[in-house]
Amino acid sequence: MRIGGLKFGLGAAAVLVCVGAAVAQTAPVIPAARGRARAEKDSATKAASVAAPVSTSAVSASAVSASVAHLTINPGEIAAPVSPMLYGLMTEEINHSYDGGLYAELVQNRSFSMTWAGAEHWGLVRHGNAQVSMKVDKTDGPSKALAGSMKLTVDAASAGNEAGLSNPGYWGMALKGETRYRGSFWAKSDGGEPVKARLVSDRTGKVLAEAMVEVGPGPWAEYKYTLTTGVMPVSTANHLELTVSKRGTIWLQLVSLMPPTFHGRPNGNRADLMERMAAMHPKFLRLPGGNYLEGDRLEDWYNWKETIGPLVDRPGHQAPWTYRSSDGLGLLEFLEWCEDLKIEPLLAVYAGYALQGQHVAAGKDMEPYVQAALDEIEYVTGGPNTKWGARRAKDGHPSPFPLHYVEIGNEDWLDRSGSYEERFPVFAKAIREKYPQYKIIATTPLKGADAQKYVDVIDDHYYKAPHEMMDFVKHYDDAPRNGPKIFVGEWATRSGVPTPNFGDALGDAAWMTAMERNSDLIIMAAYAPMLVNVNPGGMQWATDLIGFDGATTYASPSYWAQSLFATHLGDGTARSSVTGAGARFFYSATVSSGNRMLHLKLVNASDQDQPLTVDLTGVTGTKSGTMTTLHGASYEATNSITDPNFIKPVGSLVQVSATGWKHTVPALTIEVMDLPLR
Ligand code: AHR
Repeated sequence: MRIGGLKFGLGAAAVLVCVGAAVAQTAPVIPAARGRARAEKDSATKAASVAAPVSTSAVSASAVSASVAHLTINPGEIAAPVSPMLYGLMTEEINHSYDGGLYAELVQNRSFSMTWAGAEHWGLVRHGNAQVSMKVDKTDGPSKALAGSMKLTVDAASAGNEAGLSNPGYWGMALKGETRYRGSFWAKSDGGEPVKARLVSDRTGKVLAEAMVEVGPGPWAEYKYTLTTGVMPVSTANHLELTVSKRGTIWLQLVSLMPPTFHGRPNGNRADLMERMAAMHPKFLRLPGGNYLEGDRLEDWYNWKETIGPLVDRPGHQAPWTYRSSDGLGLLEFLEWCEDLKIEPLLAVYAGYALQGQHVAAGKDMEPYVQAALDEIEYVTGGPNTKWGARRAKDGHPSPFPLHYVEIGNEDWLDRSGSYEERFPVFAKAIREKYPQYKIIATTPLKGADAQKYVDVIDDHYYKAPHEMMDFVKHYDDAPRNGPKIFVGEWATRSGVPTPNFGDALGDAAWMTAMERNSDLIIMAAYAPMLVNVNPGGMQWATDLIGFDGATTYASPSYWAQSLFATHLGDGTARSSVTGAGARFFYSATVSSGNRMLHLKLVNASDQDQPLTVDLTGVTGTKSGTMTTLHGASYEATNSITDPNFIKPVGSLVQVSATGWKHTVPALTIEVMDLPLR
């Protein structure tokens, strides 16, 4: 519900969702941690609540006719262009997307900063008669950013009676056989001492890999080592130990262990999750959020300058989705992630609004934030001769990154004070003056002419139940074409927990046919959220595209639907019409002008088969093409971490006669065909 630009929470049963184009929509699942009205959100309830599954039975089959529908497609007549940027990705730190997810770091709470009280996820190791205690020392650390450390006091230890610390990783430490892990830590020791680093099986106590690190006496220094496992099955039931074998005191900070990463990037990403994203053929990555851009309080804003440079200079920050972000995956890593996927960033800059409802007043107080936004764009795009381009070069990436779109804020219709009307033009003016080449995205329609003149694109968000999404597909069909373009910057059909079920995939597919049909207006779109760590407590928001634990990932039915839609997309929509189809039948017909290929997508979301006759106007004879089918036995059917391939695409060949082709789309089925027109 959108009332005066506000988003209202409905408690645990329903969610009122975001709209850019002044449309109110409901969605069925409350995000676990958020009472949706962020200004009213009680952070104490964040960690406790759990999203409940919602039946998709509302995807009614009763409205569906089994009578023969007639589909006419004229591939020679292009009704509208399809945006080359249509399908992209949206990301933020939610559901342990980065820490405990994509960011490959295996050590949880590596900088002892979860709380100042206790250093969660760290335990003591006492072998034999060793005696040891640990305490967070707030006064001694290797850098201004990491000003504290873990002080380990060893009162008794000897060879075979070692003492030290252990870390369990994120829901276990996922290790593979015959793999090299790069370890490092910062340490200070009065006397100097050898530190033994070991990977140990939780189940058997077996040491899986071991290395000695000579920590010298004296001030803080960084130490590096490698651990290589032998032949062993993949397992998450392991932990890291750092021990010493003599009395003494040692301070530790930034204890890290990295597995091999995608493209071998130092401080990089998990390869399996990157491969999942690459297979979606996205065109852009909207970063860094989402609510992650804003933070709960003003001081929690995404201060990108604290996320770059050596890890020891990154303090981390409190993120809005209940846990603290290490910022190991910082701004440069976001950009390198784009580079690795050969896509471009869509940069969202902080615009002075905090989710608890405070905002920065336009004027003097706003100036540092506007400057931060300009500096950020320079860091992304500036040559090494610019201040922030030089800083990026120093950080290891001399060449600038491509950029075409800058978004100002996130979901600013949440701001009850309406201050976006004042905040937006301040940012937009400064960006337009310095960077006239970039398109500016507003997060909600603006009323004032002074603000409106900067708006190239509006970011609309939709989270809906399957039946709602299917009922919504005509939303943009008659929308005006003479205003700003539309970026559907967050969207999802939501009922499955933690990942979408087949009913959701059908809703998504229906919605994608609508976006493709309207892609002269909708120039970009991104599903959200993308990632979820499915371990207990890993999820804050239900219905996420890709599920994972420490060792594996799985693709939801919606993931497959999206990959298929993005991979088989033309550059124009063919003029077409359908008669006699059931209410839950959807289609898209786009043409690739280069290779003269018709991409035909047929979606039957009802539980009755849909017979069709199809005429391809202007096409003669019979065409042989390929067809990929995604089918679920029920709306609730789904994939999971334990049954990852229950629903998956199946390929086949298809013979299509250009006139009077008789074809039946089975119930609960998505079909994607490539039909050569030559
Ligand atoms: O995608 C989850 C959240 O939904 C995003 O952080 C926010 O922008 C939206 O409300």
